Amino acid sequence: MPAAFQLESVTRRFGDLAAVKRVDASIEQGSQVAFIGPSGSGKTTVIRLLNTMLAADEGTVTVFGQSVSGLGAGELRRLRTRIATIPQHLGLVPNLSVLQNVILGKGGERGTLRSIRDLLIPRKSDVEAIHKILERVGIEEKLFARTSTLSGGQQQRVAIARALFQEPEAILADEPVSAVDPARAKDTVQLLTDLSREHGFTLCVSLHHIELAKEFFPRLIGMRNGEVVLDGAPADLDEADLARLYQLSDEEMMTDA
Ligand SMILES: Nc1ncnc2c1ncn2[C@@H]1O[C@H](COP(=O)(O)OP(=O)(O)OP(=O)(O)O)[C@@H](O)[C@H]1O
Ligand SMILES: [Mg+2]
Repeated sequence: MPAAFQLESVTRRFGDLAAVKRVDASIEQGSQVAFIGPSGSGKTTVIRLLNTMLAADEGTVTVFGQSVSGLGAGELRRLRTRIATIPQHLGLVPNLSVLQNVILGKGGERGTLRSIRDLLIPRKSDVEAIHKILERVGIEEKLFARTSTLSGGQQQRVAIARALFQEPEAILADEPVSAVDPARAKDTVQLLTDLSREHGFTLCVSLHHIELAKEFFPRLIGMRNGEVVLDGAPADLDEADLARLYQLSDEEMMTDA
């Protein structure tokens, strides 16, 4: 199986700080991977390297077989339409309806003018497709609701629906369950991993909930201080290593403070 994403000795700095240091990872097409690790360990930075919104300072990022650094603006735009990112704060427009937010999933592919037209006068085919997607994620009755009136868990589903409507080859979700209660968090993580298997898209998430990561992801990549410190199937990972992932960094954060 070819890799959807390949990081080869990738380093990304912000000023003097190396947010990601010499990271190597190959992520198989159609697989599910959770990046775990304490705050500041580099998870979001990795996600933004994978979706090409950030460039590596050193090393090579390869997405769907194409080395990102060699791509022109047009090629990069096309590549990005094949990846859906669910940002930590979801990136929904609160005053638009659920339908309109989901339509925006195809914004990158359709361009500005057509997107505005589709938002103002939704096409019948879009409405039908989106109704089906909302059924799958369990909020079909919210099609015409204003997005700001939905609960946190429902808004997560809107963000997932928007990503699905894009028909991506990969979905990258940054802390998809940070703002909801544990039961909702579990439902959302299960939904994302189920959808990845149903549709075949590659799924990469960053997750603070280590128990959820272990339950639903066949592969965990543990990060600390920008480095990959563990990588494997939950059953193969050492409990003490997992505990240390968080412990050590707490100490480090205390010395930093
Ligand atoms: N745009 C930026 N400018 C400056 N520093 C940044 C920027 N983005 C990230 N950093 C720094 O890089 C390091 C890694 O940040 P990152 O956001 O990747 O961590 P994270 O693992 O996602 O953390 P969290 O779990 O809190 O979301 C942090 O020290 C952060 O302050
Ligand atoms: Mg983050």
